Amino acid sequence: MIKVKNLYKSYRNQGKTQQVLNDINFEVPAGQVFGIIGKSGAGKSTLIKCLNLLERPDSGEIIIDGIDLTKITSNELRVQRQQIGVIFQHFNLLNSKTIFDNVALPLILHGNHDKAQIKAAVQEMLQLVGLEDFANKYPASLSGGQKQRVGIARALITKPKLLLSDEATSALDPQTTASILDLLLEINRKLGITIALITHELEVVRKICDKVAVIDGGRIIELGNAVDVLLHPREALTRKLIVEEETDKYLENVQQFYQFEKNANRHLLLLSFVGETTYQPLLSIVAKEANVEFSILRGELGRIKDTPFGQLLVEFEGGEDGLSLAKSVMTRLGVHYETIY
Ligand SMILES: Nc1ncnc2c1ncn2[C@@H]1O[C@H](COP(=O)(O)OP(=O)(O)O)[C@@H](O)[C@H]1O
Ligand SMILES: [Mg+2]
Repeated sequence: MIKVKNLYKSYRNQGKTQQVLNDINFEVPAGQVFGIIGKSGAGKSTLIKCLNLLERPDSGEIIIDGIDLTKITSNELRVQRQQIGVIFQHFNLLNSKTIFDNVALPLILHGNHDKAQIKAAVQEMLQLVGLEDFANKYPASLSGGQKQRVGIARALITKPKLLLSDEATSALDPQTTASILDLLLEINRKLGITIALITHELEVVRKICDKVAVIDGGRIIELGNAVDVLLHPREALTRKLIVEEETDKYLENVQQFYQFEKNANRHLLLLSFVGETTYQPLLSIVAKEANVEFSILRGELGRIKDTPFGQLLVEFEGGEDGLSLAKSVMTRLGVHYETIY
């Protein structure tokens, strides 16, 4: 559905050229949800703007549904853009227009629809996002979550195949975020729409993403299935974004009632279990085989999209041999571990 090849983009700032995207390559199969994460200034928004050519790349290919958007005329581009819906962090609604008119806007701009068609399409969209009674209200009377639902209805009214989202839930509280993510997932599943989204919230990636790219300094530094990247990040920065943030949370919590003792006979590990292994008595197997003892300091069961996972912060105690044996048993059993100390 999306194929980005050798994408470069620079801006000129006060006479200096700043390379903002550097040889970006990725593919997103139709129907998947693709998350792009990274620090502020990494180039995420620029990348998403390149996907519908709101920003024109310096070079490279942006192939959406088989068509390279960089190689077509502006008229053809206008047609192709109808295949691409966009939602924004601050919703970008027109405050002087009703919800009905906001949602209808893309069809009105398009010009090819009569009143009855527009009315039916708006009603269908408002129903999809759960706002069928809001047609005559104005944006000012809506909550943030409702405004984003309007944004989603407007983005989908042209029946796009691809939805782009730039921090669509960043201005929302956690509960509203969860309900918007549920809606996006429902749209993804019901309508089969491919979604590419930017977020700095790990929760978003966990809940709805199939694949994820980590971008830093305009380069993709890590790319893979959400389960792999979230549970076993390879790059230092990804680890910082994901593992350390999580681990720090664990440690802070645990340290309130538990004193760590750093010595050669004790190792603190963060274990991850994915899929089937999540529900097996792996720790007792490890303890028996390696003759080590363990205390579970913190645990979590969750899901990354559809895949169940468990994470445990475990302190093992045993001789150095026991500890390295424990690690090799875990590797054999498919338990991934990060050594904290
Ligand atoms: N229109 C622009 N003109 C000049 N520089 C820009 C423009 N848009 C973004 N930049 C610069 O490009 C870099 C990446 O920005 P952006 O893509 O917005 O990052 P992110 O969304 O990851 O925070 C930043 O250094 C930013 O200042
Ligand atoms: Mg941004």
